[in-house]
Amino acid sequence: MPRTYVVTGAASGIGLATAELLAERGGRVIGVDLHDADVNVDLTTAEGRADLVSGVADASGGRIDAIIANAGLALPVAKTAAVNYFGTLATLEGLRPLLADSPAPRAVATASMASLFPPDDALLDAFLAGDEPAAMARASELEAGPPEQGNLIYGTTKRALVRWIRRNAPGPDWAGAGIPLNAIAPGVVETPMTEAYTGTEEARTAILEMVPMPLNGIFQPRDAAYLLAWLTSEENAHLCGQVVFIDGGSDAVMRGDSTW
Ligand SMILES: NC(=O)c1ccc[n+]([C@@H]2O[C@H](COP(=O)([O-])OP(=O)(O)OC[C@H]3O[C@@H](n4cnc5c(N)ncnc54)[C@H](O)[C@@H]3O)[C@@H](O)[C@H]2O)c1
Repeated sequence: MPRTYVVTGAASGIGLATAELLAERGGRVIGVDLHDADVNVDLTTAEGRADLVSGVADASGGRIDAIIANAGLALPVAKTAAVNYFGTLATLEGLRPLLADSPAPRAVATASMASLFPPDDALLDAFLAGDEPAAMARASELEAGPPEQGNLIYGTTKRALVRWIRRNAPGPDWAGAGIPLNAIAPGVVETPMTEAYTGTEEARTAILEMVPMPLNGIFQPRDAAYLLAWLTSEENAHLCGQVVFIDGGSDAVMRGDSTW
C-alpha cells in the first residue's frame, strides 16, 4: 500500500517540491495550503486548524503515514507568529491521531537556520508557554516597531519551534507512540519566500554574508525535499528530536565547536 503524506505549504517552494518528489516516488500526497491544494485552509485561525484536521481525515479516509509541517511566512508581521509556531503545532498535534494505524508513522517540521539568530525573549517565552494571545500581542508590538524589531519575529518563531520539537519528541505522544519527530533547518533556499534575497547577484552576495553557505551556496527546494522525504520514510526509525541543518555549512561556521 502506498504511504500517505500530508504536506503543508504544498502550493509553493519547499512544500511543492516535496509533494512532487513524494508523488513521483509513488506516495499518496495530501497537500495543504491557503489555496491550490487538496485541503485549503488558513493555519493562522482556529477555524482553519479545525478544518485542516477534518479535511485531512476526509481526504485520507482517517489514516495517514507522515506529517510534513512546512507552511510558513517570513514577513516581519504578527501573522508570521501565528502560522510558523501555532499553525505548525496545530498541524503536528491535530494530525497525530491519524498516524495511529500506520506501520511506520513519521513527522517533521520545517524550521530554519534563522533559529540561530538572537530571539525576542518576550515572544519566545509566550510561545513556549503556549500562550497565543500573549504571543500575538508581543508580535504585534514588534511589527509596529522599527524594522530591526519586526525582523526578530521570524527567527523567534523558528527558535521556539525547534525547542518545542526537542522537548516533545522524546515524550509519550511521539517517541512513546513510535513516531520519530524531527525538524529540518534550511539555509537559504531559492523559493518565492526568498526572492528579494536571491533575485540579483548583489542580493545573493549580501545574504551569503549574513548566512555563510560554503558548501554549494544557495540551493533549490528539491534539495530540501530529499531530506524531508527521508525523514518521513520507513528508513528513518531512530532520529528523535533532531534539528537537521541543511544549510551549506552555516551552522558549522556560526556555532563551530559549541554544538555537536
Ligand atoms: N526559502 C528559504 O530560504 C527557507 C529557509 C529556511 C526555512 N524555510 C521555511 O520553509 C518553509 C517553506 O517555505 P518556502 O521557502 O517554500 O516558502 P513559500 O513562500 O514558497 O511557501 C510557503 C507556503 O506556505 C503557505 N502558507 C503561508 N501561510 C499559510 C497559512 N496561514 N495557512 C496555510 N498555508 C500557508 C503559503 O501559501 C506558501 O504556499 C517555511 O516554513 C519557511 O519558513 C525557508
